[in-house]
Amino acid sequence: MNAADPAADWGYLIQEDRIHRSVYTSEALFRREMYSIFAHTWVFVGHESEIPKAGDFVTRHLGGRPVIITRDAHADVHVLFNRCAHRGAKVCREDKGSCKVFVCPYHSWTYDHAGRSVSVPLDYAYDADRESGKFDLLRAPRVSSYRGFIFACLDPEQPALEDYLAGARQVIDEWLDRYGGGEVEVSGTQRYRIAANWKFVTDNQGDGYHPAYSHRSLLMMAASRYGDKDMQYFAADPDASDMFVKGFRNGHYYLDQRPEMHKVSAWELQRPQPGREHLEQSLPDKYGVDEARRLLELAVGAGMNLTVFPNLLLIGNQVQLIDPLGVAETDLYWFATTVSNLPDEVNAMRMRTQEDFPMFGEVDDVENFESCQAGLGIPEAEWVDCSRHLHSDREVVEDDGTRAPVTSDITMRTFYKEWKRLMSMED
Ligand code: FES
Ligand SMILES: [Fe+2]
Repeated sequence: MNAADPAADWGYLIQEDRIHRSVYTSEALFRREMYSIFAHTWVFVGHESEIPKAGDFVTRHLGGRPVIITRDAHADVHVLFNRCAHRGAKVCREDKGSCKVFVCPYHSWTYDHAGRSVSVPLDYAYDADRESGKFDLLRAPRVSSYRGFIFACLDPEQPALEDYLAGARQVIDEWLDRYGGGEVEVSGTQRYRIAANWKFVTDNQGDGYHPAYSHRSLLMMAASRYGDKDMQYFAADPDASDMFVKGFRNGHYYLDQRPEMHKVSAWELQRPQPGREHLEQSLPDKYGVDEARRLLELAVGAGMNLTVFPNLLLIGNQVQLIDPLGVAETDLYWFATTVSNLPDEVNAMRMRTQEDFPMFGEVDDVENFESCQAGLGIPEAEWVDCSRHLHSDREVVEDDGTRAPVTSDITMRTFYKEWKRLMSMED
């Protein structure tokens, strides 16, 4: 193995108990990821509620490729490469909006929301006619939604989205079904720019080992002022709790806090928030005691961290999208959500909950990601450890995946097994 040419040996880079630093630091491996992973699997690009009406759009990236997610006049969703068919300029330069057509700023070639050419100025001088498709935007060949989550796939050989989701599908269903038919809608976006490789975010998403240490200040503040509150169950030995992690097929995994969160009441465990007392007092008068209790439980986080390989995360009531911009530059979108059948005041309280962790906890995580990136710049120290609970004999194989103690690195091992499979495929 030549350390300067790590792509030569995938078995060396990804071992059962450790990962080579170059997986996070190599420009060459990053470029290969954008092809071998992001062009060969289903990639999360947005939520249908971001583009509810005909003409709506958002712009994103699909493995570094600029794309426009659109809703056309027939309510169909498309993922268009944001690259003019003429000379390649970015056709749409807004983050989101609504429009009748897309007009390229360079020479005004114009497109509809399915990417079809609508007009080409002075077109008498071209030989082809517009029906030929030559003047159209290129589209992602496969676009599919699962219960509102829009994915695109550039590889015609991949299985259908629902098969691809494997065991993650059940977790998404549970995340949505607790609202009894209410639709989850994206209601706001925060975007973090992180000076670190995108996989530090996925490594952390299923990491039940770090909360007591990384988020110590948050836990201590809550404990000293308010007693035993949210996430205190991570404080002693989380492996002695009923929480767990589970790895699925295709690189997906999740961490489940619900067994502890719902032992008594997730609402009771929630840290103080503006408006909490008022909501607790006013809801029973309006809806009765039992319904008020149900609604309060829906005002707090869902208690699960799901990763859908490679870039969709569900965390609490939020949706996250990871957008890798460079080997050490990542945008992380946090989408807050409201639910169509919840009263406004409950949705408002959900917003307070969704402001809580990104403000008080995510800063700790981002600091760790950037610190790890800097640490992995040391060539002599080559390895990242992912061996926790590898040989402790506490894994349970179930029909849809493997369950392990909540601090197990089975989450990372699940992710990198799929990463290695895709990266090592022949071109
Ligand atoms: S590059 Fe878009 S119209 Fe010329
Ligand atoms: Fe964290």
